[in-house]
Amino acid sequence: MTPRTISTRPFTDQRPGTSGLRKKVTRFQEPHYLENFVQSIFDSVGKLQGETLVVGGDGRYFNREAIQTIIRMAAANGIGHLLVGRAGLLSTPAASAVIRKHGAAGGIILSASHNPGGPDGDFGIKFNTANGGPAPEKITEAIYRRTLEIDRYLTLDCPDLPLDHLGSHRLGETTVEIIDPVADYAQLMEALFDFDAIRELLQGGFTLRFDAMHAVTGPYAHEILENRLGAPSGTVMNGTPLPDFGGGHPDPNLAYARELVELLFSDDGPDFGAASDGDGDRNMILGRNFFVTPSDSLALLTANARLVPGYRNGIAGVARSMPTSLAVDRVAEKLGIECYETPTGWKFFGNLMDAGKVTLCGEESFGTGSNHIREKDGLWAVLFWLNILAARRQSVAEIVRQHWAEYGRNFYTRHDYEELEMAAAQGVMQHLEQQFAILPGQQFGSFRVTSCDNFSYTDPVDGSVSSNQGIRILFDGGSRIVYRLSGTGTVGATLRIYIESYEPDPGKQLQDPQEALAPLIEIAGRLAELPARTGRTAPSVIT
Ligand code: G1P
Ligand code: ZN
Repeated sequence: MTPRTISTRPFTDQRPGTSGLRKKVTRFQEPHYLENFVQSIFDSVGKLQGETLVVGGDGRYFNREAIQTIIRMAAANGIGHLLVGRAGLLSTPAASAVIRKHGAAGGIILSASHNPGGPDGDFGIKFNTANGGPAPEKITEAIYRRTLEIDRYLTLDCPDLPLDHLGSHRLGETTVEIIDPVADYAQLMEALFDFDAIRELLQGGFTLRFDAMHAVTGPYAHEILENRLGAPSGTVMNGTPLPDFGGGHPDPNLAYARELVELLFSDDGPDFGAASDGDGDRNMILGRNFFVTPSDSLALLTANARLVPGYRNGIAGVARSMPTSLAVDRVAEKLGIECYETPTGWKFFGNLMDAGKVTLCGEESFGTGSNHIREKDGLWAVLFWLNILAARRQSVAEIVRQHWAEYGRNFYTRHDYEELEMAAAQGVMQHLEQQFAILPGQQFGSFRVTSCDNFSYTDPVDGSVSSNQGIRILFDGGSRIVYRLSGTGTVGATLRIYIESYEPDPGKQLQDPQEALAPLIEIAGRLAELPARTGRTAPSVIT
């Protein structure tokens, strides 16, 4: 089988964002669009020839076609061994686990995470490196530079492979193995968590629901929660992956996982509820009548890590993205471990974990994870919680309230303004920066600004600098307002405003966050001149 060389011309919009290249499906369907990006990976990421490469995706519309294209191109480019998830499926965390376990040189993951799918929805592709994590910026920038000059790609003339059956195939010098997408991942989870204790908890009448949102975690949750842990069938809701996620928005938050939320907030709801997103790396944790913010969840997992076999020997350090609340910082302080503050996006955690500086990490955007892989991990977080619940035998609400009483509560909310005009959104950011000189010392009601900046990060491992990562306005007493523009949207610009205050008094910790934060929310809108600059008077999504 001789590779065919196809000539092509560059597209100018292939710069990867927070998490890979994301565009509308229709863009990816344009002739050569996907191929250009894939060839740019092969051209710029040296030493993939003869090596193992993992390929899989979240099952969204166009996933299968894209996988067949990538298989042909990988074989034409001399990849030695391809590991492809059956039916083209691999959750993002499972892909990371498979890369690490099989010593692959990297992986190509097809996903637009929590963005809607279907013919009019979004598609995405990202490259992960040998450590199992998203490629760092120097690699994504090299791929991008290559997309701007590419003039040919390599492929093979061969029929589609039968993706739905386990087995091995040969394409020229390349072997293609269709693997069980769940097995390696489930085995890793069994090694980390006390499955016996969780099984006992479930046998004792503890009830739970997991919402897979018609996305990739369905098969993983069926196998782990129902088959291995013995939860009754029906525990997993929306467990069959669909190319359009059943028309839903596969984002596990209070707005989009409505069915699950209503169940947990009903009179005879289950004790525990959780959901994951399109590609399985996000998680939402609920107790009966109780929502755990992702920032609190990270703090809580850190404080309780010793209850879990995989973390019994303690944790080296923690990391959180800059907009994530400061709740985990307080736990780290008490444990006497380092807490790192990184820019938004999982790729910044990789170096810290590789260097052994960090065991647990997380983001406010429903992402939590550990050094067991190099991606955030939805089901891992669910199992971590179940392990804690099995050990402590208290309700979710009791555990969280005790945590607040001990460490103080960080009231927290994120307000998203979606699909703004790019110029208006950039105008907001510029306007805020222009006030940097005069803000410190200014009083807004009972809040006094102590400092403000545009967050810049120097990686403590490789010294690389990432600047312009979001505007921070800090107030006396631990309150903060953070503004940043999303790097994952595909239409216009999304402005995210993260608002936080600190409440040490247990007597005042049970307020509704939107009420507790109302004065700061008002200040955030005023400082940014939102109505005048964007025409919006309310956010599109509140989490
Ligand atoms: C969003 C989240 C970020 C997360 C990313 C990928 O990025 O805010 O924390 O890492 O999705 O899941 P953003 O759109 O804010 O750039
Ligand atoms: Zn995701």
